[in-house]
Amino acid sequence: MQCDAKTIIESISTALLVTDSQLKVAFANTAAEQLFSMSRSKLQGIKLTDLIDAREKNLIETLQHSNVPTFQGFTATDITFSPDPHVHFHADMYLSLYTGRARGLVVEIHRLDYQQKLNEDLQRRNQNLAARDLIRNLAHEIKNPLGGIRGAAQLLEMTYSTDSELKEYTKVIIEQADRLKALVDRLLGPQRANPRTMTNIHYVIEKVLSLESMATQGRLRFEKDYDPSLPEIMLDLDAMQQALINIISNAIQALTESNTTYPTIKIRTRALMGALVGGVKYPMSIEVSIIDNGPGIPEEIKDMLFYPMVTSRAEGHGLGLSIAQNIVEHHNGTIECESTPGCTVFKLILPLTTNNNNAGSK
Ligand SMILES: Nc1ncnc2c1ncn2[C@@H]1O[C@H](COP(=O)(O)OP(=O)(O)OP(=O)(O)O)[C@@H](O)[C@H]1O
Ligand SMILES: [Mg+2]
Repeated sequence: MQCDAKTIIESISTALLVTDSQLKVAFANTAAEQLFSMSRSKLQGIKLTDLIDAREKNLIETLQHSNVPTFQGFTATDITFSPDPHVHFHADMYLSLYTGRARGLVVEIHRLDYQQKLNEDLQRRNQNLAARDLIRNLAHEIKNPLGGIRGAAQLLEMTYSTDSELKEYTKVIIEQADRLKALVDRLLGPQRANPRTMTNIHYVIEKVLSLESMATQGRLRFEKDYDPSLPEIMLDLDAMQQALINIISNAIQALTESNTTYPTIKIRTRALMGALVGGVKYPMSIEVSIIDNGPGIPEEIKDMLFYPMVTSRAEGHGLGLSIAQNIVEHHNGTIECESTPGCTVFKLILPLTTNNNNAGSK
């Protein structure tokens, strides 16, 4: 068997970069594209030091002051990389001298938290499923007798149609039963899936933004940062619109209730290489980030954010995020959240399967 070096370099799971003498990326293999979630054309020209988190001051200084042509090579362990302000991961980095026609550095990067992230994702997913099943079963148990209660109240109302005081009571029973039914229906979620259509994700986002802009009437700013080259994806349009509305409405509520100055919601779309969703690694996914500059998620609910009935708002039901997550999971995707005061990011990851039809199961 004949092996060529180029195919081997593209097949290995180690991310490999080669920089020029100015530390600018000149080459990136497929694993590096996946690790940094950037195409090689985007990676090319970026300085190695700009891919590393600014808090790694010593390492960045060492690299900036190193004389590449006489570089000795070294290993840096447990380094935080941050190719973009919203992405952080830990990795070991091995640097050696590239002695091709021009001098540069060969950089091998081994991600450290990959297995840990995989385990955490699966654990979180299982916990969410268990909580959701519990609530659904409870909702079913409430729904059946509720129909009976409402029906009996209606019969009473008809029987005592002349007694206005009794009619008041039956009216209360019927109203409250209807209110409870609406809540239970939200808890149970959509009962059947709609057909899916090949769609540009920006079409759905624009529709949601026009609705939300009308509702907010210029009281807050919507910023768009789209990657126009994203491929189309199979979507249940109504459901995906609902998921986005739930997340954006939360951001609007957080910004309005906190009286944030310059309240802004930014919608960012990107292609994501090698995303890990539910223990499966997808070559390409669409990432939609909804970023707001509000007060952030209250610390006490952060760990259970996507559970049904978890809320910090007096009039909230705590269902918006649970429903959004359910919808995104029906598209084989996932939602991640990172939040600090002043910056809350909800990231929807929607994988494209090989036939670009993500309607089926994994
Ligand atoms: N962008 C955000 N900024 C701050 N807190 C948020 C944000 N998004 C969600 N939250 C918090 O997460 C909680 C849960 O959100 P979720 O949408 O599930 O329920 P809710 O908004 O409280 O009620 P519902 O959506 O059912 O009316 C909210 O009560 C709020 O505390
Ligand atoms: Mg909500």
